[in-house]
Amino acid sequence: MKMMTTKNLQDAFAGESQAHMKYMIFADQAEREGLANIARLFRAASYSEQMHATAHLRALGGVNATPKNLEGALGGENFEIAEMYPAYIATAKEQQEKGAIATMERALAAEKVHSVLYARAQESAEAKKDLDLSAIFVCEVCGFTVEGAAPEKCPVCGAPQARFRKF
Ligand SMILES: [Fe+2]
Ligand SMILES: [Fe+2]
Repeated sequence: MKMMTTKNLQDAFAGESQAHMKYMIFADQAEREGLANIARLFRAASYSEQMHATAHLRALGGVNATPKNLEGALGGENFEIAEMYPAYIATAKEQQEKGAIATMERALAAEKVHSVLYARAQESAEAKKDLDLSAIFVCEVCGFTVEGAAPEKCPVCGAPQARFRKF
């Protein structure tokens, strides 16, 4: 693909991905405000944006067999853990941006778990085996992720056990 089209498609993928996520979040908000049909509209549009993002990523050659996908996913998590969040958090501390510090520290805590799980998954996938994985629980409040059983209290945000969603 020509360079400019590649760049444009990457930008379009980023834009559609963000729209997908924002519409999901806006749908939850509309739901909380009792606006069920507006929530439904946001969910439908979000799904549509997901299809666009998927097609853009496929056109970019960004969807591969699972071992390669895991390599990319693991690389992304490790970049966030080793470089991105530490640098961003340091800047936010420097600038005393409390909200930004909190949300990024919460994300960093979960990324560390994701990295460990992805590394295990990659090992399995490379051996052409599925991952030996028990239940995974994700905190609905902060996204902290844990394998096995939901903790009584989220170690990151303190949310109670009932706020963990099982996967
Ligand atoms: Fe992650
Ligand atoms: Fe949490």
